[in-house]
Amino acid sequence: MSAVLAERAAGVRSEASSTIAIVLLGTGVVGGALLKLLNTAAAGSLRLVGAANSRRQQTDPASLARRNLREQLNQHGVPRDNASLLTALDASGAAVKVIIDATASTTLAARHAEWLAHGYHVVTANKALAGGELSGWRALQAALANGGRYGDSATVGAGLPVLSTLRRLRTCGDGLLTLEGVFSGSLSWLFNQYDGSRPFSELLREARHLGYTEPDPRSDLSGEDVARKLLIIARNAGFALGTDEVQVEGLVPASLRELDTEAFLARLAELDVPLAARHAEAKSRGCVLRFLARLNQRGHARVGLAEVPLTHPAARLYGTDNQFALTTTRYHAQPLVIQGPGAGPEVTAQALLGDVLALG
Ligand SMILES: NC(=O)c1ccc[n+]([C@@H]2O[C@H](COP(=O)([O-])OP(=O)(O)OC[C@H]3O[C@@H](n4cnc5c(N)ncnc54)[C@H](OP(=O)(O)O)[C@@H]3O)[C@@H](O)[C@H]2O)c1
Repeated sequence: MSAVLAERAAGVRSEASSTIAIVLLGTGVVGGALLKLLNTAAAGSLRLVGAANSRRQQTDPASLARRNLREQLNQHGVPRDNASLLTALDASGAAVKVIIDATASTTLAARHAEWLAHGYHVVTANKALAGGELSGWRALQAALANGGRYGDSATVGAGLPVLSTLRRLRTCGDGLLTLEGVFSGSLSWLFNQYDGSRPFSELLREARHLGYTEPDPRSDLSGEDVARKLLIIARNAGFALGTDEVQVEGLVPASLRELDTEAFLARLAELDVPLAARHAEAKSRGCVLRFLARLNQRGHARVGLAEVPLTHPAARLYGTDNQFALTTTRYHAQPLVIQGPGAGPEVTAQALLGDVLALG
């Protein structure tokens, strides 16, 4: 090989090894927002080598470069197969290979530990592993002991610096004593608005219309998503809680749990009377209702509706704000409070991007 060719080949090799190669799983609301961010200068060091939705995937560079990749996946994609996405990562020659999970799939989450063990990094908005069964959390910790990195900023507070802060405090020997807060953007909005003047069901319809809730609002009202976030924070703080150790008081009565979405939406008004009664009781004591997650010093975890006085930090939330009040060994007299928009595709996608860039 001539000296010039050798120099060029070395250049290509060093360019390949200095880039971060990524595969994106999920091109929905969050994945779609991430694809937009990948076209910005901030993502210049990243190379997308594969993208997939639940049915189709793409590894062809020309197709991946298309601006409308998300829409094109269906016509130009090939059937789903994780192995060929991993092959694309391996073939990239990049020093850093990252799988980004922007789905809510438990099947994919169950593969995170295996991917980490095989030398890939995982960046995720999917809470199903870290906030799922304790055995999955333990498998994740074991895989991480081998050097892989797990970007989880998007799993709690849509990227608000909660988990990073907690880990930083822990590194300094500052342990979490108690945690309290509002971890759901949709439930925050609903109870920030609810003052008894309009039926709860009317507010819920509005929240759904604004895209604050899932298409089936029971996913939000059940409290299960909040419980997963509480588990993720608690586990990161050293409380190895199982899913059955979080007491969840959801807002969906048993009579409405088994219905299909349409039938549930038709019977939303059944939520009104019990909530109006709870609101009136709270008001008579000078309190408001908030959907709180709480972890106390003994590791007792609870998620559900609570009355809080007007002086309580959670009484002063706006819009879809999330709030995390951490009392630690050193933040003892007053909690360290992290608050801000805790939902939304752009900030969640940015949390994923930030975690990927931190691997470079
Ligand atoms: N939206 C937010 O503001 C927000 C904030 C924080 C965290 N999150 C989390 O982010 C994740 C994604 O939320 P989202 O709102 O973007 O949901 P979404 O709009 O429903 O999108 C989910 C995407 O995942 C894809 N998918 C499902 N199973 C898959 C599989 N096995 N392989 C590849 N792709 C698969 C879906 O494919 P199809 O298109 O084929 O259905 C879809 O593209 C969830 O875990 C959610 O809890 C969301």
